[in-house]
Amino acid sequence: MTASHSAVGSEGGPDDAVKLEGVRKTYHLGEPVHALDGVDISIPRGAYTAVMGPSGSGKSTLLNLIGCLDTPSEGTLHVNGREVTGLSESELTKVRGEEVGFVFQTFNLMPRLTAIENVALPLVFQGVSRTERRDRARDLLYQVGLRGREDHRPNELSGGQRQRVAVARALANDPAIVLADEPTGNLDSDTGRQIMRLFQELHDDGHTVLMVTHERHIAEHADSIIHILDGHVERIEEIETPRRVEEAR
Ligand SMILES: Nc1ncnc2c1ncn2[C@@H]1O[C@H](COP(=O)(O)OP(=O)(O)OP(=O)(O)O)[C@@H](O)[C@H]1O
Ligand SMILES: [Mg+2]
Repeated sequence: MTASHSAVGSEGGPDDAVKLEGVRKTYHLGEPVHALDGVDISIPRGAYTAVMGPSGSGKSTLLNLIGCLDTPSEGTLHVNGREVTGLSESELTKVRGEEVGFVFQTFNLMPRLTAIENVALPLVFQGVSRTERRDRARDLLYQVGLRGREDHRPNELSGGQRQRVAVARALANDPAIVLADEPTGNLDSDTGRQIMRLFQELHDDGHTVLMVTHERHIAEHADSIIHILDGHVERIEEIETPRRVEEAR
């Protein structure tokens, strides 16, 4: 891997997990809102990247585009080497299902489903058999430290446990890229640390992780921080020595 491919930047190379070129997103609700206003970013495979910026600067918009939950108004977007600009709704759903795992600030679990059913849900749409879905979901719940909580519904779990179910669900389809929008925003610092430890493990295992956060000390776990201001990249900051989450005490 050459130096130009090893860090987040605007140049990019064939190993990119994510590449945006001249991406704009304009919302038309009365006055047009330029949520993203010309963004060029390339994120190499296996990178651990944080996104910071003021409220309303376009961070969630950026994540939603990369996660194929929305489409750019202009520019091109590649996700795991696939050009996704111009795809139909059903093609986007397919890319989302195969390439991306999403973790939200508010967990977004299905309230009537148990932990294991929530984690297994994305696999229903991938045509995986029922037995295999349950086996895989159980393994993932064990990985995030939730052995014994398989049959709990979200309201029978703590906030941190719910977010761990959400992380397990994001991993169900073995995604190339894990996207997280303020994953620790609703958690106390100890529980937030558990979630950061999971992301660290994902990164150590070679996943590409992209995480929006308001908190500087959370962002410093990443290898680099993309600073967003008014819908464009203000600067990209390399973190010399990313923070590590120590073993649970
Ligand atoms: N669906 C939408 N329709 C219209 N405008 C939107 C929509 N989604 C976002 N916006 C606008 O786009 C801009 C960027 O929003 P975005 O949610 O990306 O900000 P953010 O950086 O994630 O902020 P926060 O830190 O508060 O979550 C804001 O001005 C917002 O009002
Ligand atoms: Mg947001």
